[in-house]
Amino acid sequence: MRPLGLLAPVGQFSQRALDVALDRSVVLGYTSIGPRVRRTLWPADPTPGCLQGKRVVVTGATSGIGEAIARQLLELGATVHLLGRNAQKVADYARDLREQVANSEVVEEVCDVSDLDAVRAWAGDLSGRIEVLHGLVHNAGTMTTRREESAQGHELGLAAHVLGPHLMTRILRDRLLAAPGTVVWMSSGGMYGARLHADDADDIEYRRGQYDGVQAYARTKRMQVVMAQVWADALLGTGVQSVSMHPGWVRTPGVSEHLPTFDKVVGPLLREPDDGADTAVWLVAKRPPSHPPYFWHDRAQRPTTFGWQRAEDVTGRDRLRDYVAAATDAP
Ligand SMILES: NC(=O)c1ccc[n+]([C@@H]2O[C@H](COP(=O)([O-])OP(=O)(O)OC[C@H]3O[C@@H](n4cnc5c(N)ncnc54)[C@H](OP(=O)(O)O)[C@@H]3O)[C@@H](O)[C@H]2O)c1
Repeated sequence: MRPLGLLAPVGQFSQRALDVALDRSVVLGYTSIGPRVRRTLWPADPTPGCLQGKRVVVTGATSGIGEAIARQLLELGATVHLLGRNAQKVADYARDLREQVANSEVVEEVCDVSDLDAVRAWAGDLSGRIEVLHGLVHNAGTMTTRREESAQGHELGLAAHVLGPHLMTRILRDRLLAAPGTVVWMSSGGMYGARLHADDADDIEYRRGQYDGVQAYARTKRMQVVMAQVWADALLGTGVQSVSMHPGWVRTPGVSEHLPTFDKVVGPLLREPDDGADTAVWLVAKRPPSHPPYFWHDRAQRPTTFGWQRAEDVTGRDRLRDYVAAATDAP
């Protein structure tokens, strides 16, 4: 026994080195190769049935990764509030999920998360229907080629990825505290290419210069990482966890529609939605200890900047937080 015990730290070191090497290579880590290799190394799966009696909201659950998250949560026994903006799609996906997972409890929810009035009305209504919320997965995502605005006149990606989710978290806060629950912000590896420094914080609504849809998307995905940390700091000591993550490169309708060239080039190596969903479900089910900057991928915490990038700028973060609070009227 003893020699093996002595070798264990060496094994753990090389596993960690392999995991980090996959992450830094980007292509190997983000594609289907990542979970295939890591599956043999990563922490244990959630115990079957561990979410019996637990309630989780999944936004953007009518496609790709969101649908897979909802299904996996149902398989673990959770009651899943399946949220989409299109009532017919929500009804269709709910029916499919009920057929796929025996005895599943799916609650259909309709809300456009980019519309702050709709979020206020829906989240207020949900608060009256439930006492405890164990998980809130902010998965809904969108990308546009030209600058579009939400019902309240905010840049659409900012509204859907940052403002709506923040307001929803604020209104459901007491229900999350009662659990205590886990809030997951589904960001993107694309956020590594976007900054949020004080100068960017002057133009949170992306009004200046030529609009670049991919860059605008990446910026709001960076903002999600920042907001997850803002929330984690605010909830410190309450038991509620706020974390962000990225799913890798996943074969979904969203990728084929918004990134057709990328879809074609990386196509055969893209992950399946179940692999993209895995870490979100694992975070809700296992609630692992999480430390700043609370950013996860493939069941491990990851840095939010790499060596050649400037570190996160506290002024940029504070300005985003204050802007979001003012825009949503929800400090
Ligand atoms: N796939 C990837 O490789 C990848 C990589 C990095 C990050 N992500 C992130 O993962 C998440 C899911 O992506 P996906 O690839 O599964 O995308 P997807 O197939 O396009 O699904 C997006 C989902 O979000 C919903 N949605 C969009 N805007 C909404 C709004 N305003 N209100 C409510 N629901 C809304 C969509 O509803 P409709 O069906 O009505 O359009 C759909 O259910 C996104 O946040 C995305 O940024 C994906």
